[in-house]
Amino acid sequence: MLSNLKPQAADKILMLIEEFKADTRQGKIDLGVGVYKDPQGVTPVMRAVKAAEQRIWESQTSKAYTGLAGEPEYRSAMAEMVLGDVPADRLASVATVGGTGAIRQALELARMANPGLTVHVADPTWPNHLSIMKFMGLPFVEYRYFDAASRGVDFDGMKQDIARAGKGDIVLLHGCCHNPTGANLTQEQWQEVIAILAKSGAVPLIDLAYQGFGDGLEADAVATRLVAGSLPEVLIAASCSKNFGIYRERTGILMALAENGAARDLSQGAMAFLNRQTYSFPPDHGARIVSTILTDAALRADWATELEEVRGTMLGLRDQLAAELRELSGSDRFDFIQRHRGMFSRLGATPEQVAKLRSDAAIYLVGDSRLNIAGLNRDTVPVLARAIIDAGI
Ligand code: LMR
Repeated sequence: MLSNLKPQAADKILMLIEEFKADTRQGKIDLGVGVYKDPQGVTPVMRAVKAAEQRIWESQTSKAYTGLAGEPEYRSAMAEMVLGDVPADRLASVATVGGTGAIRQALELARMANPGLTVHVADPTWPNHLSIMKFMGLPFVEYRYFDAASRGVDFDGMKQDIARAGKGDIVLLHGCCHNPTGANLTQEQWQEVIAILAKSGAVPLIDLAYQGFGDGLEADAVATRLVAGSLPEVLIAASCSKNFGIYRERTGILMALAENGAARDLSQGAMAFLNRQTYSFPPDHGARIVSTILTDAALRADWATELEEVRGTMLGLRDQLAAELRELSGSDRFDFIQRHRGMFSRLGATPEQVAKLRSDAAIYLVGDSRLNIAGLNRDTVPVLARAIIDAGI
């Protein structure tokens, strides 16, 4: 039986981890997978996470199962962090296995509710969105998103394309810090997107994996809150991997805002059912770390401070890289790096140029020329800038 399996194409982002490890050159630079690294190249355990883990270790008396939906404290703390004012009468939620698990369960839920749906997804988007949908056999179409010339958003194209989504279709949106481009909508543009969805009855699924990495914890939630407050049905898949730095704990949440209490109850039941069918109980350790931090004023303040430091570091690197490239290229054509937000920027380089960065300078980017800003430090920025110019980008 097993010999009937077909070889699977390796994930293009995760593959880079192995390829980078195998590279023996001194001074190699990893700008691939979306993991934060401090200036020493370490992905640190945040102070508040350590403190929360200690508290949990000292106080936890049982490892018995939690609820199928996860712990209520975690779900309410996350709802508050993401939504601010929580419309409890409309909100269903389940803890999930990371943000990826939330995306998968959201798509499963949508398909249960509307088996004939099409998913409308940004071109480009996180490649695993596409991979999951292909695997599920879910029909999807891409909407224009990235403007190759300005490296900003092709908003006219986006508007035209998402207007094609019909009632009960899903429109997958990045709540902030678009992955892989770093180009984001303004608040006014979000309002226009909302108006289009309100007219068609298409349902937004917001992927919120980088809250706190763009303009700040509150600012990065503004678009999601706007959508949640404006439309009758909204799905939100949020991840704690990046903003709490707990990547391997697999901590995420799926929230569904329903039109009324009855639909909320149906959604809650269906989401718990989906957890049961997939993995029974969601992982608890990461969720408990998050709720311990969010419900304790001192831990929360310390975490928010450290998150701001992380964000500030990335913004500083963006400024430095744009300035180096301005100097070396004698132009402002790389200033988009300063305008982009979040962990990533898409350079707009060809696959050959990306390959040249790797072969000539041992710099690893994803093949679509996405670079992880957080993989840099003040010493490696000039090295990257020089290599970008040398590669003819
Ligand atoms: C990324 O985009 O690099 C991260 O979200 C990690 C992943 O799972 O792909």
